[in-house]
Amino acid sequence: MSFYVTTPIYYVNAAPHLGHAYSTIAADIMARHMRQRGQDVFFLTGTDEHGEPVALAAEREGLTSQELVDRNAPRFIDLMPRLNVSNDFFIRTSDAGHKAKAQEVLARVRDNGHVYEGVYEGWYCPRCADFKTDAEAGEDNLCPIHKTPLEREKEDNYFFRLSAFQDDLLKLFDEQPDFVMPRHRYNEARSFIESGLQDVSLTRSTFTWGVPVPWDDSHVFYVWFEALLNYYTALSYAKEGEDLTDRFWPAQYHIIGKDILKFHTVFWPAMLMAAGIPLPEHVFVHGFLLIGKDKMGKSAGNAIDPFTIMDEYGTDALRYYLMREVSFGHDGSVSLEGFRARYESELANELGNLASRTIAMVHRYRDGVVPDTALDAGLAAEIDGVTGEVREMLDRADLTAAGDAIWLRVRRLNRYVEEQAPWALAKDPARAGELDRVLASLAEGLRVIAVVLYPWMPESTGKLLAALGSPSVQLECARMQAGRLGAISKLEQLFPKP
Ligand code: MSP
Repeated sequence: MSFYVTTPIYYVNAAPHLGHAYSTIAADIMARHMRQRGQDVFFLTGTDEHGEPVALAAEREGLTSQELVDRNAPRFIDLMPRLNVSNDFFIRTSDAGHKAKAQEVLARVRDNGHVYEGVYEGWYCPRCADFKTDAEAGEDNLCPIHKTPLEREKEDNYFFRLSAFQDDLLKLFDEQPDFVMPRHRYNEARSFIESGLQDVSLTRSTFTWGVPVPWDDSHVFYVWFEALLNYYTALSYAKEGEDLTDRFWPAQYHIIGKDILKFHTVFWPAMLMAAGIPLPEHVFVHGFLLIGKDKMGKSAGNAIDPFTIMDEYGTDALRYYLMREVSFGHDGSVSLEGFRARYESELANELGNLASRTIAMVHRYRDGVVPDTALDAGLAAEIDGVTGEVREMLDRADLTAAGDAIWLRVRRLNRYVEEQAPWALAKDPARAGELDRVLASLAEGLRVIAVVLYPWMPESTGKLLAALGSPSVQLECARMQAGRLGAISKLEQLFPKP
């Protein structure tokens, strides 16, 4: 089975912040989990490099647009290994391979009769690279997102006949109720379609930084249409000498933030229909990371730098925090205080402590060898349940529920230690068999948790599994089995106080 998951491609003219890390980590967890299941996975992320905002920023800095994107793209390229993100390819929309394929697809949209020539007049926000409706512009003609003045633009455009796809889109939403997830976002997209679709500009002719329109070189494609195509074009050139399109298209999941819903759930499927390309299975729309009540972002100037947190606490802690703190699909506040609190209470005191005391007790009471004995059946059933739950939850991208299901088991094992009190059993030689069973059950439980938790925290769980002498992270290993572990090594503290 193949599994193709994507993140949005990031605008290069801003520094990466926690919001960008969030989309990317979520997609990484899904990619890693599907690899654990033995699926053939392709995971794509990248940068969105064309459009007027980039051209304007370059002009301000006295650079060419290409120089600006070449200077800025590495910030995002370098972020990926720092986040321990396992993307299979990093697309830049200035890649020759992307441009050629995008031109091919959009020419097909025109050949299929969905493009016409006209004049566009409307309110345009250069920072959004998007036209606004009169209702959005309001009386003051301000961008509803940036609160900056909109520009009245009039230009020759080629139009995409979006309005012709209204019925097909509604049919898609009827037939595939999980095309857009979660449900409240499906409803939002659907009512946007029901409210009536207007044709949209497919090209721009007032600047040149973009993919040239093959049938008219005085135009470049409107950046959004070309950028959306990245999900499709990447497969055609990501691997030298092999076109991966048949192997991975259509994508299973596009992970996106709620601000780009209209593009991904309305424009994108319509464009694919127009080109005769199969549609992706799901668009999962997550919420915003908030600082207090405000969206975190460069415009608000309140962005948290992911590098600072990672330098101090490590990458796993950041990955864990973002996924636990903010319910996936909803907005949620983040803060450095909240981060520190969760680090201490959950990572250090719950998981870290469970790991260190389990391993220490096997060393202290059994010379570092996990006893080969029957496990506690009740506990095993509780722990084993997690694997199926996580599978099923991640099939529907419910990262929050999956994280909760795993953490329930971390807490269960800690309770088990308290209930069984191995230190008391160790004092009574007649209860050696019981102690064997408790230690073996704990060590196995810890191993199973490390396997299911691996996509969230690949580094720490890797260390833990190595110490347990059982490095495999295949999901089929996430089952309690007596005699699975033998001699184990020592473990450094997983989540030290910084
Ligand atoms: N370039 C477009 C996407 C094109 S996809 C074909 C874009 N780029 S972006 O850099 O502005 O944003 C990329 C993603 O980061 C979006 O999904 C956006 O929702 C997400 N985030 C940016 N700030 C965010 C938060 N404060 N919280 C969570 N995610 C947010 O849009």
